[in-house]
Amino acid sequence: MKVDGKPYRTIWLGDKPGEAWIIDQRKLPFAFEEVVLKSTEDTARAIYEMYVRGAGCIGAVAAHGMYLAAVECEVEVDSVESFDQAFRKKGEQLCETRPTAMNLQWAVERQVREVSSQDSIQEKVSRAREVAREVADEDAEWCRRIGENGLRLIQEIFEKKGGKDPVNILTHCNAGWLAFVDWGSATSPIYAAHDAGIPVHVWVDETRPRNQGARLTAWELGQQGVPHTVIVDNVGGHLMQHGMVDMVITGTDRTTYTGDVANKIGTYLKALAARDNDVPFYVALPSSTFDWEIRDGVKEIPIEQRDGEEVAFLSGLASTNDTEETEVNLVAEGSPVANYAFDVTPSHLVSGLITERGVCDANEASVFSLFPEKQK
Ligand code: MRU
Repeated sequence: MKVDGKPYRTIWLGDKPGEAWIIDQRKLPFAFEEVVLKSTEDTARAIYEMYVRGAGCIGAVAAHGMYLAAVECEVEVDSVESFDQAFRKKGEQLCETRPTAMNLQWAVERQVREVSSQDSIQEKVSRAREVAREVADEDAEWCRRIGENGLRLIQEIFEKKGGKDPVNILTHCNAGWLAFVDWGSATSPIYAAHDAGIPVHVWVDETRPRNQGARLTAWELGQQGVPHTVIVDNVGGHLMQHGMVDMVITGTDRTTYTGDVANKIGTYLKALAARDNDVPFYVALPSSTFDWEIRDGVKEIPIEQRDGEEVAFLSGLASTNDTEETEVNLVAEGSPVANYAFDVTPSHLVSGLITERGVCDANEASVFSLFPEKQK
């Protein structure tokens, strides 16, 4: 997507070997900074400290981190066997950074599989570079197709409303291009509709505690010229009661093959409100976000708990003339703070899953009808 008219992806290989570049998303929307990663360590820090975030982006960055890991292994070890062992270990280190996003584990496992099938150390390093690029290209293409498939749903609602008024779409957190390599998942159908001339308006949940909605989604939509309004997280139910939301589209960090959806904390409450008000609740995801092993999302998906400081402190510009952000404390001294990063929306509250292969119902039979090769 474009930033000030210039096309960008969220991750790209450098011209020099052993380098990958990212955008420091912690600084957006107030500053746009590119950062170079040169090691597994750099990559782990960038994921854990959320320079990059969002399931698909984390996966693609991890795939690039595994290329950097391969370059390190080439220097550190002297046999093919010890290369494979050291490479796997570096993969484990990356997987520990964020437990909920499926794409991280998926990308690391793919690199380990591909690299271990190569004969020489040199071939392993060059395959790791290729796989990093493949993962990024694939993510971008899958998200583009999610846009095509979700566009039909928006078009139907537009026509049902009489073909004149904007379609009001509510989204939570950031499942935009910043959360992937390009296009995004939840935003891709929105961009496709906007480009096709269908009027859309997006309600953007600010998404406490880190405010990825207010800071990232609003910025993204603004850059692409999509009409939107930022709301606090608790407004969604009220808007739905008053007919001001035509559909919800969210992303997901991990979805079971039975259709249970882990997404940013607060998503479940939006799904409950949507059901109570007959508002369709769609979830957009590339197949790299499916967990093909887990049946019961509520019981089995690991939910990341982060530092309470993210809840206790807010950061932003104190005045419009400032360039540096200021942090302020919101919590009474001595009060304990808990920071659950994700929740799980059970499949029965999900109207459909928008994937790169089409839209399916959120249940095992329908998911496997789109991805038959995954059925055991
Ligand atoms: O903690 P984050 O920012 O990595 O959380 C991810 C998200 O932004 C959302 O949960 C998103 O809707 C799914 S990621 C495509």
